Amino acid sequence: MIIDSDTEVVRYEKRDGKAYITLDRPEALNAYNIAMRDELFQVLGVVRDDPDVRVAVLRGAGDRAFCAGADLTEFLTAPSPTLARKARWERDVWGLFLGSGKPIIAALHGYVLGSGVEMALCCDIRVAADDAQFGLPETGLGIIPAAGGSQTLSRAVGLGRSLDMLLTGRWLTAREALCARLVDRLVPPADLITAVDRLADRITSLPGSALALAKQAIVCGLDLSLAEGLELEARIASRLVT
Ligand code: COA
Repeated sequence: MIIDSDTEVVRYEKRDGKAYITLDRPEALNAYNIAMRDELFQVLGVVRDDPDVRVAVLRGAGDRAFCAGADLTEFLTAPSPTLARKARWERDVWGLFLGSGKPIIAALHGYVLGSGVEMALCCDIRVAADDAQFGLPETGLGIIPAAGGSQTLSRAVGLGRSLDMLLTGRWLTAREALCARLVDRLVPPADLITAVDRLADRITSLPGSALALAKQAIVCGLDLSLAEGLELEARIASRLVT
């Protein structure tokens, strides 16, 4: 079954237990604007609430970008970039991403900048085409990443590399991103959709309740001591014992 939404800048389709969320502003390199925030908020709610959805894939339309960051034209019409961004905080899209009990795979290609990187970091598995380029231009614009990026980046790539990206504005190639653990897998651009689809199929073939609990144990355990993490694991594991 395929369900298509008629939203304007985020396309939503559902097929065989897989939700496909497509950032759909290719003419603006899928820049993240307020409409995109509103529509993502809606579709992430659908992913959370629809029991048929087992896994979600987040991708960008067109062949040039996953997402070129926050929409700079909205920055220009507001009194300041910080005020422009306040409007984006009104709906907790990032909380929905990070709190998703269902696995989310990011399919990354072309430009992955600013909130594009931050969205990818909110996903569970990041697959990148080897043409992808990653950067955080925020500090150059006088702001800092605030879609979780100042926290999620260092958890993924470590302190030194995060500071290197943020303090110098340095971009990473896809291969550098793989070495830095910013992405988990690299594929040729032509194979990105097939590779992600295969991964999503694999995930839908596994027991959903075990996946949700495994994800919870790993994600929640990350901020705990080992002793606390082991306790958490025992508590979570016991929920699967019948
Ligand atoms: N917000 C709004 N529009 C954007 C955008 C953004 N973040 N990034 C790209 N676009 C638009 C461009 O304005 C252009 O629109 P136009 O065709 O109407 O002029 C279109 O997307 C194509 O971009 P263009 O700049 O022509 O492509 P390029 O290959 O020369 O450069 C980038 C690509 C990504 C290097 C460049 O667009 C860029 O630096 N974008 C801004 C990145 C950024 O700072 N993001 C904010 C992070 S907080």
